[in-house]
Amino acid sequence: MENNRRKGKAMSDIIQTFMEEHKKISESMEDLKKKCLIFLEQDQIDLEEFREAVSFIRSFVDKQHHQREEKLLFQAMMEELGEVAVNLVQHGMMVEHDLARLYAGALDAALKDWEESPDGENKLQILANAMGYYYLMVRHIDRENQVIYPYARRSLSQETLQRLNKELENDTEIL
Ligand SMILES: [Fe+2]
Ligand SMILES: [Fe+2]
Repeated sequence: MENNRRKGKAMSDIIQTFMEEHKKISESMEDLKKKCLIFLEQDQIDLEEFREAVSFIRSFVDKQHHQREEKLLFQAMMEELGEVAVNLVQHGMMVEHDLARLYAGALDAALKDWEESPDGENKLQILANAMGYYYLMVRHIDRENQVIYPYARRSLSQETLQRLNKELENDTEIL
């Protein structure tokens, strides 16, 4: 980040950055769905690949993306935009972040169960939780891109948006 500033690069835009992260998450979701289809139709599973998907979900989707949405953008929306934002964010987006954590934990547990006992029940648990995560994330990202982010962009003050851009650049705590 220091380097970027020294080179005079423009400060990153928080909403733009988050939308780019959405693209990366969407790509990985399509990849996860392909792996699920292969498991469903051909009864083949590469456990290491599924474990990598869980690790990406935890480190990138949750830590880098969801926690920074919560800490920066959503916090500012709730402080500045009142009840409408609290409803959209706290009772909508943040509930879905928690649900995503639940699916990720259940998928991780299902992979361990499959390792010990590769039967139909555990196959179903893997597919159900992986695809539950997939559908949740597809809808969640669409709602943020179509509704939440445009609302934040047009409703938050310029000062707040600029402060968030700066805070995002300086946020190295969880990266
Ligand atoms: Fe989100
Ligand atoms: Fe998001």
